[in-house]
Amino acid sequence: MMNILHISCSPRGQAAESSRLSQKIICLLMEREPGARVVNRAIGNGALPHIDENYARAQHSATAEVTQEGSVSTSEELIEELESSDIVVIATPMHNLSVPSVLKAWIDHVVRARRTFEVTRDGKIGTLRDRPVFVAVSSGGRFSGKHARQPDFLTPYLRLILGTIGLHDVTFFSVEGTGAGRDAVTEARTRTDRALQAYFALFRVTECNALPSP
Ligand SMILES: Cc1cc2nc3c(=O)[nH]c(=O)nc-3n(C[C@H](O)[C@H](O)[C@H](O)COP(=O)(O)O)c2cc1C
Repeated sequence: MMNILHISCSPRGQAAESSRLSQKIICLLMEREPGARVVNRAIGNGALPHIDENYARAQHSATAEVTQEGSVSTSEELIEELESSDIVVIATPMHNLSVPSVLKAWIDHVVRARRTFEVTRDGKIGTLRDRPVFVAVSSGGRFSGKHARQPDFLTPYLRLILGTIGLHDVTFFSVEGTGAGRDAVTEARTRTDRALQAYFALFRVTECNALPSP
């Protein structure tokens, strides 16, 4: 059975624009794979703590004495959740030009030395099997296209850090300008819906997506 891992990061829960967008993506995926199972991991609103001292020691050195408690055990749980997914959908608002701190906390848990990446002479090499990752972004102002009014440290950062653990197939959709009033939001949603329809008309869930983890 195909597993879709849905990670939602907004403190606004179900009311979040980013979650509204990620739900649309999940609906479009389910149309193609009606038997798919969705695993919801809501980390907004204080649901995921930052990494602890024990975890930082484990990251620091391969020989450090660490216990399997606290963040190490949370990290293992989150990584296993990622490993057993065939498709990942991340719903995130833009906070201060980048990812919200809770998404950064999730990244700190799953981008783990000697577990999801190896450090080599040529740099960090990801060990996770690649699979499609969809990122649903919501922002108060515009950050892409000719109407962009601010720099974007969110999409390039996420693309790079997910690539570090082996997830290279990353596609972004966004509803931008939620702070510009109801009409602007309706317009932004319509624009994004068009982009979703165009993309998913061609998207196929391939056998390769559903391969088990190595
Ligand atoms: C702490 C904080 C920082 C924010 N920083 C930005 C920002 O840098 N750029 C931007 O366009 N919007 C920013 N916003 C606005 C949110 O991105 C916007 O309200 C978005 O639609 C929220 O998405 P959500 O409903 O999924 O939470 C910020 C909001 C908060 C709460």
